[in-house]
Amino acid sequence: MAKLGKFEVLNHPLIQHKLTIIRNENCGTREFRQVVNEIAELMAYEVSRDMPLEDCEVKTPIIKTIQKQLAGKKVVIVPILRAGLGMVDGILELIPAAKVGHVGMYRDEKTLKPTEYFVKMPDNLASRDIFVVDPMLATGGSAIMAVDALKKRGAVNIKFVCLVAAPEGVKALRDAHPDIDVFAAALDDHLDENGYIVPGLGDAGDRLFGTK
Ligand code: PRP
Ligand code: URA
Repeated sequence: MAKLGKFEVLNHPLIQHKLTIIRNENCGTREFRQVVNEIAELMAYEVSRDMPLEDCEVKTPIIKTIQKQLAGKKVVIVPILRAGLGMVDGILELIPAAKVGHVGMYRDEKTLKPTEYFVKMPDNLASRDIFVVDPMLATGGSAIMAVDALKKRGAVNIKFVCLVAAPEGVKALRDAHPDIDVFAAALDDHLDENGYIVPGLGDAGDRLFGTK
């Protein structure tokens, strides 16, 4: 039987502080981009807590000793385009050997339904730990479709990592994919009538890339 995934809010004080900076409407593109990456890096530290270790021999200047190293499984970071791209460099700071796959999705502004326009993944997804990243989990439609696309290609060990989640999106994603772990830096209050997270931080893609 597939394991039951968990939902966790990673509310470390540094993460909360940095999230407040990017929520501010006066935070400009450059600072927004930098702080999103900083939060992603801090979250990667927590999200990778259960990475398996194995014994290895190392010779210190003093003696040969048995110590620990990461065991085998390679991480794949999968940003949901566009806004997910803003989290990739921060995670690569911690896990530089990770591969990066891409899933392109956009939400129709009226129906809020996502459309997939691009998928490019490394091989052997079944044997890899996959971190799907997107700053915003709103209705959950984009995240669900991204995880669908990964499972269709053989992925099994999937974690979803976002900055701001709406309760509606968390429920939808966990109902659709109960086996994956979902991590957020904050669980906000609700979605407004346009599908924006309240209080949220606005349109993450536009704020990251300076578009409107
Ligand atoms: C945003 C965001 C998520 C999605 C979340 O992307 O980055 O991918 O909306 O909404 P959902 O949970 O209701 O699907 P958007 O479609 O605006 O595209 P962008 O990243 O190119 O700005
Ligand atoms: N996508 C965003 O970028 N922001 C929201 O609040 C909801 C979806």
